[in-house]
Amino acid sequence: MITLKTPAGNSHAGLIGLGVYRPTRVVPNSEVIEAIDSSDEWIRERSGIIERRFAQSHETAASMGAIAAQNALDDAKIKAQDIDVVLVATFSHRFQTPSAAAEIAALIGANNASAFDISAACAGFCYGIGIADSLIRAGSAKNILVIGTEKLSDIINMSDRGTAFIFADGAGAVVVSPTSTQGIGPTIWGADGNARESIIMDPDLITAGKEGIPSLLTMQGQAVFRWAVGSMGDVCNQALAAAELDVSDLKAFVPHQANIRITDAIIKRINLPQHVVVARDIVTAGNTSAASIPLALHALRESGEIKKGEPFLMVGFGAGLAYASQVALAP
Ligand code: UT7
Repeated sequence: MITLKTPAGNSHAGLIGLGVYRPTRVVPNSEVIEAIDSSDEWIRERSGIIERRFAQSHETAASMGAIAAQNALDDAKIKAQDIDVVLVATFSHRFQTPSAAAEIAALIGANNASAFDISAACAGFCYGIGIADSLIRAGSAKNILVIGTEKLSDIINMSDRGTAFIFADGAGAVVVSPTSTQGIGPTIWGADGNARESIIMDPDLITAGKEGIPSLLTMQGQAVFRWAVGSMGDVCNQALAAAELDVSDLKAFVPHQANIRITDAIIKRINLPQHVVVARDIVTAGNTSAASIPLALHALRESGEIKKGEPFLMVGFGAGLAYASQVALAP
């Protein structure tokens, strides 16, 4: 029997750099309410959002992701040429193919990297961290850029009451590399494809192309809300148990910024102690899907609420219905 060489992996992986890009145009609730017959009070109460940011017309998910990626490289003090894999979580890249990752790798000069996208919507960043951790420990790569980037303003119907006020634009990235001790806990992940129609682009791309109508994001908000509130606390508890960390040992909780009421419900489910900092970036950033966790983490780092090496819990959830959660040490 022929046996092949098992790749020699690195024992440990961790996050060593973080960078973001926030579009400059601030869009207050007052700008979106007229088209959806809503109010500033309703949006604040039901979602926590006061304002969000929309990218300019020349900006794309890839161009914003490239800036965040470069900022993460600078933070990690690593050159683009030393990146082995560029991994992008997005669902608002302009092309089905080629990938946003290939475009970003070219934009930042990551000429030695493999590049591919992950389609896991709002869970995509946590999926990416899990994949990067596994690739490094399996010996398939050394330095990996994990990027979450979205230009959702291009794919939302500004007259749709269920989505127009929630979704927004932005990008965040981390560098994942070999480390001397483990900086990423086991990833708890899954997907319920039976419920995939509860967040879906409509019509599908083929029909949209044939009929000349835009394919836009639709969401059954209540169903997704119930699923997230009912299930994500358990997923978080599993991630904590898998990392062998008690909830009281956390420095911060950085959930996907879907809706501040979902965050509050998960906090209750996992009995998060008062001293653990909670990321509430949604208030000024809206829901940026795959970008929301790195953006929220960056905000906590900027305010000094989390420092390098301190443990935080992430959980991403959304279309698919896909979810993923893990503990990590802050870069
Ligand atoms: O990021 C990916 C995952 N996505 C999520 O996790 C989002 C999950 N869903 C949500 O966050 C919430 O469902 C929304 C924020 C989208 C909506 O909040 P809701 O509390 O679920 O609203 P609802 O659809 O249950 O509507 C409640 C009421 C209704 O009026 P009645 O029937 O009680 O009189 C709606 O007609 O609010 C009304 N309504 C609105 N009013 C003002 C619905 N949308 C709006 C609106 N402005 N935009």
